[in-house]
Amino acid sequence: MQVYLNGQYLPEGEAFISPADRGFVFADGVYEVIHAYDGFLFCNDLHANRLARSMSELRIEPPADFDMAAIAAELIRANELQSGEATVYIQVTRGAAPRGHAFPASGTQPTVYGFAKPFESPAELRKIGCKAVTAPDERWLRCDIKSVSLLPNVMAKQNAVDAGAYETVLVREGNVTEGSSSNFAAIFDNEWVTAPLGNLILPGITREIVLKLCEKLSIRVAENFIPSDSLGGAKEAMILSSTMEVMPVTEIDGKSVGNGRPGPQTRRIQEAFQQWIQQDRAFQA
Ligand SMILES: Cc1ncc(COP(=O)(O)O)c(C=O)c1O
Repeated sequence: MQVYLNGQYLPEGEAFISPADRGFVFADGVYEVIHAYDGFLFCNDLHANRLARSMSELRIEPPADFDMAAIAAELIRANELQSGEATVYIQVTRGAAPRGHAFPASGTQPTVYGFAKPFESPAELRKIGCKAVTAPDERWLRCDIKSVSLLPNVMAKQNAVDAGAYETVLVREGNVTEGSSSNFAAIFDNEWVTAPLGNLILPGITREIVLKLCEKLSIRVAENFIPSDSLGGAKEAMILSSTMEVMPVTEIDGKSVGNGRPGPQTRRIQEAFQQWIQQDRAFQA
């Protein structure tokens, strides 16, 4: 596998970072994951914009010639991933410096690392839907930044695995925020409801697209927090991410959502999402 490290493409086994890297020592860095379909990097520009915002919020200066979209494209090419599905991961940390909490001396070079690998899509699960469990949201208060500091998300995902579920839906002060690695939405009274943008959720790119699709499909939308004790009244539920796409949630904490099968609005959104990908691909070709 060819990876990218600080301006070079090289075999993974030859890519080394310093143990003093602040990504390693402090989780002081940000990242993106982009889904590729036959080499087409879906929403590559939106991922690049979000990475730039994450860096800016943390005052990480990217290298002068940094071009996330171009690195992602080259990783696909170098790893011959032009057919089938793949994911590209890009991470930028504040670089290597003597350990100290405050920012290192100016001129410290950020570390940019990227890799691409084949992706086995959960396409079958998307047909039948998945189980979710709820758990307290124990993350910091800047969940809008896509930081590599993911320990609470790691614990939450493992909580799902331990419970035989696919995702943990996080609850802060009685309200659903999002999944451990996804945004969450549910349908109540024919309205698609998802948590509002702000510091408590990641501004998901899939969420943004689904919001637009709902408008096209004349599905009413509301960006409001869902109280966790009202989840039992949801007719349909779904989790959204670049890799999962639109994943129906058919059971939460052991209770069926609706009739326990992916609902009609979820199906419409899934179909429209697939069309969006195809149109975007055709447009970029
Ligand atoms: C915490 C969290 N929320 C939401 C998402 C979904 O974001 P996107 O649709 O941009 O992949 C992710 C994706 O990894 C995530 O980690």
